[in-house]
Amino acid sequence: MVDEKLRVLISAEKIQARIRELGEQISRDYPDGQLHMVCILKGACFFLTDLARAMKRDVFVDFMGISTYGKGKTSSGEVKVTKDLDISIEGADVLIVEDIVDSGVTLNYLMHLLEQRKPRSIRIAALLDKPERRLRPIHANYVGFQIPDEFVVGYGLDYAEMYRNLDDVCVLDAPPAAK
Ligand code: IMP
Ligand code: MG
Repeated sequence: MVDEKLRVLISAEKIQARIRELGEQISRDYPDGQLHMVCILKGACFFLTDLARAMKRDVFVDFMGISTYGKGKTSSGEVKVTKDLDISIEGADVLIVEDIVDSGVTLNYLMHLLEQRKPRSIRIAALLDKPERRLRPIHANYVGFQIPDEFVVGYGLDYAEMYRNLDDVCVLDAPPAAK
């Protein structure tokens, strides 16, 4: 795809190599028990499918839809669940799989919500982390890449639903005003 607004930040090769490492590391960290990978739609679904296949053990895969309002301009950031999990997480190890941790508002809300359902543990795997933008104290246990405060698209990440199917993570120049 040729688009002069896009600049490759992380190539497809680097993404795939890093995911293989993460899959091995996470598999070692969970030698037993039921591991539920919870994909946050839609952005994380590309990361989820590659990470699940890089795992060296059985995993359950489930999906959660979340929408965040008032993000970027207000710090309150109202979060709503648009699709809930299909499988109970009680007593299970939960690995939340997210595309990017930005303000932390979404994951902060989700951690509290899922903790109430009595899982054995909850951790976060995020492909990207923008630590400079944090408004809520969220620590991702597994991070693919830390990136600077730039608006990125590709490999699941969108701008107005566009660019999700790029293989690379790219910086979108002339970023949206709300960010
Ligand atoms: P948070 O609640 O601010 O941490 O929001 C995280 C969500 O915002 C991610 O799941 C993305 O959907 C979206 N997001 C944050 N930064 C970017 C970006 O640079 N590009 C595309 N989407 C982003
Ligand atoms: Mg998202």
